[in-house]
Amino acid sequence: MSVRRLAPDHVQPASFAFDAANENWADQQIAKYPPGRQASAVIPLLWKAQEQHHGWVPRAAIEAVARKLDMAPMRVMEIATFYTMFNLQPVGEHFVQLCGTTPCALRGAEALKKVCEDVIGPQSTVSADGKLSWLEVECLGACCNAPMAQINFDYYEDLTPENFRTLLDDLRQGRPVKTGSQIGRSGSEPEGGGETLKDPALYDGTVIGAGDWQKRVTEQRQAAAEAAAAKAAAEAEAKKAEAGAAAPKADAPKTDSPKTDAHKTDATPAAATKPATETAAAGRPKPSEPGQPSSAAQDTPSAEGRPDQGKPDATSSDAARGGDKPVK
Ligand code: FES
Repeated sequence: MSVRRLAPDHVQPASFAFDAANENWADQQIAKYPPGRQASAVIPLLWKAQEQHHGWVPRAAIEAVARKLDMAPMRVMEIATFYTMFNLQPVGEHFVQLCGTTPCALRGAEALKKVCEDVIGPQSTVSADGKLSWLEVECLGACCNAPMAQINFDYYEDLTPENFRTLLDDLRQGRPVKTGSQIGRSGSEPEGGGETLKDPALYDGTVIGAGDWQKRVTEQRQAAAEAAAAKAAAEAEAKKAEAGAAAPKADAPKTDSPKTDAHKTDATPAAATKPATETAAAGRPKPSEPGQPSSAAQDTPSAEGRPDQGKPDATSSDAARGGDKPVK
């Protein structure tokens, strides 16, 4: 990571101002943001300043952008020095950004650096005629066609020392050049042309049913809708039948069940006001009933939650024991 500093004073211009067209363009960018948020336009304005000032951003441009956006100059300085898209030093008319990251390095970027040094000079310096300058950068996202370089706004790929040298020479002389792959690749296809997706049937519609495929899709959708409607109707019918079968049960005559009655009694507020002994007697099966051992009545907690413990109770003993005589 290189240190990014402003250019030395002797190359800094005394002032900077947007020309009329760019001033108008800047106003349009600022108008995209809500009032008070004009600082959001700082990057577009810095970019436009760089474009106007021969590809680099001088201190005066940073200050002009800060004034335009009502920002502290230091805030704009931080942005300009952080993003490598902003050149802080003068660049040539053709600014070469040579990728030196691994895929390009493996495919010969080192040899291209030597070409730059030969043809242009040291990195980050402008050639004597002002036509060229170069900088090594990180991956530019065209690794498929490595090695590559970006020159101003265009990519040049599949470079070799020979074709790169010719390319730089053509640019210097103002001759037309070819952007993209320098060996005739289309996009990022393999050298010699694509090897997949070559079946013509992929492109004439036969794979999806040439001619009446829309009719077939419509019929399939219709059949699916009808099946869904039939399923919903069957489910509704089944629910209706289920409800009809459950209705007689609800109307069946109620049988008196001591347990059920006791439960209902417990649930009513009146039960709460009854003496505990009465509630316990009504809520428990009588010990004297068939199948109930007599000791069960003694072990069963009373309505107050305490075991009876065999205490004689004038109110409940008769009911609990079903009229048995107390043992004397
Ligand atoms: S490594 Fe060079 S473009 Fe990705």
